[in-house]
Amino acid sequence: MSDTKNLVEVRDLKMHFPVKTGWNKTIPLKAVDGVSFDIKPGETLGLVGESGCGKTTVGRTLLRLYTPTSGEFRYNGELVTEKNMPSLRKEMQMVFQDPYSSLNPRMTVEDIIGEPLDVHKLYSSRDERREKILKLMETVGLNAEHATRYAHEFSGGQRQRIGIARALAVDPKFIVCDEPVSALDVSIQAQVVNMFEELQEKLGVAYLFIAHDLLVVHHISDRIAVMYLGKIVEIADADELNENPIHPYTTSLLSAVPIPDPNIARSRKRITLEGEIPSPLHTPSGCAFRTRCPYATEKCAQECPTLQDRGNGHQVACFNR
Ligand SMILES: Nc1ncnc2c1ncn2[C@@H]1O[C@H](COP(=O)(O)OP(=O)(O)O)[C@@H](O)[C@H]1O
Ligand SMILES: [Mg+2]
Repeated sequence: MSDTKNLVEVRDLKMHFPVKTGWNKTIPLKAVDGVSFDIKPGETLGLVGESGCGKTTVGRTLLRLYTPTSGEFRYNGELVTEKNMPSLRKEMQMVFQDPYSSLNPRMTVEDIIGEPLDVHKLYSSRDERREKILKLMETVGLNAEHATRYAHEFSGGQRQRIGIARALAVDPKFIVCDEPVSALDVSIQAQVVNMFEELQEKLGVAYLFIAHDLLVVHHISDRIAVMYLGKIVEIADADELNENPIHPYTTSLLSAVPIPDPNIARSRKRITLEGEIPSPLHTPSGCAFRTRCPYATEKCAQECPTLQDRGNGHQVACFNR
């Protein structure tokens, strides 16, 4: 059935960075350590977890900004390799976390958005190029009069709109949005998130939407994956994850989110995590979360739980919940 076909299929993806620990000695930093997920056309998968858990590395590895240590990424059924990535590059784009450092401040808006059009030769005349740029600016809610202004003249929210217009220039079907609103004022975050949603409705693009804020991710996502130290520990439909979290790490993340509904607030068990997130250079044996987990047992130190389906695609990696 074509309507259930996956656009993105990731299987056991690993990205280990060699890190020098002394002269002549390196050990692998397991930034991403066996991650699997699917995304359907036009769907949004949210990816959440504390800073340093490997979210950005997942996104960058999918777009081959890093060469994965192992694992598979299929796009539209086709295995993505070093060789065919250039031809697939137009299909997949990334919107970066920091609109201040990801755009060249000395380029005009026109040139920033026009660059991918130039690279992929997507116009046949100067007029057509300009027309396309103005259309893209309109799509993301930027005033056409701003085309000749420089990136540094804009606010964070407007810069992020420029970044999105640039990503959209090649008409991609999959966009990795790496914390696209985290660096923005809280007052304009909702506007930009809404714009991502409207663009999706209009263009049918699929998102891997990365955030550390569960509220932001819940709003925009169809499904949510929760990451801890390089692994996905829980994945479910967005509402299901929010209302019925199972993994103690997810529960702790949700404990930190204010709940407007007092009935849900009362019924939810609060977990406050003890201690710091361990270094990915020295992950605990067995389940990496066990050192901070109130339910950890002997088994958790020996074996690493894998994701198990608890019904309706709600998957959890935990022996004790
Ligand atoms: N290029 C790199 N070389 C070595 N270590 C890296 C590199 N990029 C990220 N890391 C490490 O990998 C881990 C995951 O980082 P990252 O993917 O940026 O996490 P997140 O986006 O969730 O904050 C961190 O410990 C980080 O220091
Ligand atoms: Mg990141």
